[in-house]
Amino acid sequence: MTDKLIIFDTTLRDGEQSPGASMTKEEKLRIARQLERLRVDVIEAGFAASSNGDFEAVKAIADTIKDSTVCSLARANDRDIARAAEALKGAQRARIHTFIATSPLHMEKKLRMTPDQVYEQARLAVRYARNLCPDVEFSPEDGYRSEIDFLCRVLEAVIDEGATTINIPDTVGYAIPELYGEFIRTLRERIPNSDKAIWSVHCHNDLGMAVANSLAGVKIGGARQVECTINGLGERAGNCALEEVVMAVKTRRDYFGLEVGIDTTQIVPASRLVSQTTGFVVQPNKAVVGANAFAHASGIHQDGVLKARDTYEIMRAEDVGWSANKIVLGKLSGRNAFKQRLQELGIVMESESELNAAFAKFKELADRKAEIFDEDIIALVGDESVTPEKERYALVSLWQHSETGERPHARVVFTIDGREYVGEADGNGPVDASIKAIESHVKSGAELLLYSVNAITSGSTESQGEVTIRLQHGGRVVNGVGADPDIVVASAKAYLAALTKLHSQVERVAAQG
Ligand code: KIV
Ligand code: ZN
Repeated sequence: MTDKLIIFDTTLRDGEQSPGASMTKEEKLRIARQLERLRVDVIEAGFAASSNGDFEAVKAIADTIKDSTVCSLARANDRDIARAAEALKGAQRARIHTFIATSPLHMEKKLRMTPDQVYEQARLAVRYARNLCPDVEFSPEDGYRSEIDFLCRVLEAVIDEGATTINIPDTVGYAIPELYGEFIRTLRERIPNSDKAIWSVHCHNDLGMAVANSLAGVKIGGARQVECTINGLGERAGNCALEEVVMAVKTRRDYFGLEVGIDTTQIVPASRLVSQTTGFVVQPNKAVVGANAFAHASGIHQDGVLKARDTYEIMRAEDVGWSANKIVLGKLSGRNAFKQRLQELGIVMESESELNAAFAKFKELADRKAEIFDEDIIALVGDESVTPEKERYALVSLWQHSETGERPHARVVFTIDGREYVGEADGNGPVDASIKAIESHVKSGAELLLYSVNAITSGSTESQGEVTIRLQHGGRVVNGVGADPDIVVASAKAYLAALTKLHSQVERVAAQG
């Protein structure tokens, strides 16, 4: 057993399964680069067989990432596994992660298979995957609710077939820390060849215990891989949060006695990138990455921290990447300085025309906002309107009038596939009027599930507003994000970005469906 704890990030796979969090190939690639800078050991880039889009994203990440192992999920069948292997062909280090459900409930109701059939399919899947890739992970889905005798039988067989990592998912977030830790310890004790594989934990947060369960799996169960996501992103209540598990193991090294290879100063940039890309806002009191995580408001605490920092702080803000917002660029900055800053932030523009469009946006912003921060730049390139060729719906201009006692009115000029439309409407407020003006032409029939505004950089009313809009239509849920110093404009941009996503045909096979 090694003393290193392997950090397996599944933001781009399990995290992305969260309704509304689906990402484009470019967005996934940008996050993968940040995960590499964070030095995660394994990046689960997606589920190659689920859609052509996901196949292309896994392939692009496999072709680009050099320092982390790149992994694709695959159901336990030859087609999925071959597709994963194909997408991973260009990777320096590749992993195929294959899974099949083993709990009585899932086998009977979902798979409609007998335990013997599941046993056989798991074995054959791992055998096939091992022929294509030396690094194979096997997950018994809903493993924690599986019967232990059956689970032991399956896991022993897949280790015999060459599985190098055995992952025990608590798929529905049902576990309790001690019990989950003991479950893994029992499996490791009872399975004769258990020492031939690395044991891994994968916990969902339905009862708010994903991090505690994962840590118990490590401490009590002896697992040496944790599967987690940035900001705990994931279906329902999410997955185990990478930043929390990593900082727990680092801060309490006295207790865990384990090494993690993570560059913790990249945690906050990763958190911001994921939040800005998906529109899933981080709550202010969230551990490690919440805006208040290191803010001391009470006089007694402030006084203590000023006298001796460790009176109230167990981690240093700068160690997890909180630095004072850096003013990086301004109105006079040139194209080269802008390009260099993008590189430093790990943002790669795919073409000169994309760089030029982003630079034009930057100049436009710098004319309206004196100080441009890293967060502004990330929001600016995350704003899909810098790549208008990919944007079906794009904002041209917006005019609105609102006055106390009057009903606000908006006129919005926007394009659909390059053709210009003008919409006008009244509304309860200027945002409502602007959205209604767009809808007067589009008539999308979409239901608005969420509208939220956040200041991109804190502490000033000059900050850009970042708006997230979540729409639902025809069984699909999408998020659109827009940023602008004017929140009405940011709202219109976010609405048009959401419409673009809604009308792009991304079909997916659900991993756990
Ligand atoms: O939660 C789960 O069971 C999963 C598996 C596919 C590993 O995400
Ligand atoms: Zn999961």
